[in-house]
Amino acid sequence: MNLEKLLTQWNDLIPTLQALNVAYLGVTTGIFETLHTQGKLSIESLEEKTGIESEYLKRFCMAAYAFDFLDKTEALYSLAPLGQLFVDENTKQKALPAAFQSVFYPLMTSQILKFAKTGGHLHTFPPFEDPGVFPWMWAMMEHKFSSLFLNEVLPKIPFIEEIDRQGGVVVDIGCGNGWLLRNLAKRFTKLKGIGIDVSREGVEQAQALSIGQKERLQFIFADFFACSLPPKVSLFTFSRTLHHLWSEKSRLVEKLAAHLESDSKVLVWEPLWPEKLDYLKQDKLKPIAFQNLHENVEGNRLLGANEIEGFLEACGLSVQKFQLENGLDAIFVGTKG
Ligand SMILES: C[S@@+](CC[C@H](N)C(=O)[O-])C[C@H]1O[C@@H](n2cnc3c(N)ncnc32)[C@H](O)[C@@H]1O
Repeated sequence: MNLEKLLTQWNDLIPTLQALNVAYLGVTTGIFETLHTQGKLSIESLEEKTGIESEYLKRFCMAAYAFDFLDKTEALYSLAPLGQLFVDENTKQKALPAAFQSVFYPLMTSQILKFAKTGGHLHTFPPFEDPGVFPWMWAMMEHKFSSLFLNEVLPKIPFIEEIDRQGGVVVDIGCGNGWLLRNLAKRFTKLKGIGIDVSREGVEQAQALSIGQKERLQFIFADFFACSLPPKVSLFTFSRTLHHLWSEKSRLVEKLAAHLESDSKVLVWEPLWPEKLDYLKQDKLKPIAFQNLHENVEGNRLLGANEIEGFLEACGLSVQKFQLENGLDAIFVGTKG
């Protein structure tokens, strides 16, 4: 390894991080969206439409112009092709998670530092405290994982079609902003969904985003352990949630097992902790090491495949495992009998 070259590469990455931070501001202030829908605007009109204070707005526009997110003609700003990446339906699924993560990870890192000496935990999700930032965590999860769900996970659970035919109930435990159930309700016409989460922000977003699907989707702000469930649930889903509930595994097995019918299924989707430490050195697995580091802030850790299989078996289920193409995640399907 050429260390000099590596040091240069690290420093060369900084402008990219800065660009993503600028893009994050463009998205979260609504400036990109406003320019997308309105075309060219003066600073004064942009101030009026976004409510961003004029000095911050001017400096943002200059920075966004420098990083090629905005164009400027005379005194009017418009969205440049790079800025469009964050608003176009075809590209934002990849562009938004990059911008969001460029801001979230430093926040998580500062939380790690905060707790590193005392060993404390913050039992909330997202694991940082800035209320202006964390609503965007849900959007990040939605954009990062929706297409993976539709393209890779759904084909591996063909039984969902039968659940739909029967108008069955899917319970999403730790539903966040409800993207999984909203996607299911869009794709299938009869199944019903109940999402449960202890995050008030997550559930409020889920409720707001599912207004048009109210007949079939319900989102409940509650601790899963304290929440009553309908008499028959066809499918329980845990999308990146099982590791959050792991410290209460026995209670979880008890509650889940008590609600499983002869034809019930359980879907667990988790980033997998590898069997050997050496595997973490693979480029595609390095993010797992970082996630496991910051999961400690919430008192969680990532789970190995054998732990997840053991959990489902303890619920009385037989288990099928599928590795996803990203090499990081796997899904586990638990079937009764
Ligand atoms: C990593 S997030 C995943 C959110 C969502 N499933 C997704 O894929 O975007 C984990 C979620 O589990 C929720 N959670 C943790 N403990 C919970 C509990 N006891 N009951 C309900 N939800 C819980 C958190 O609030 C958080 O929204």
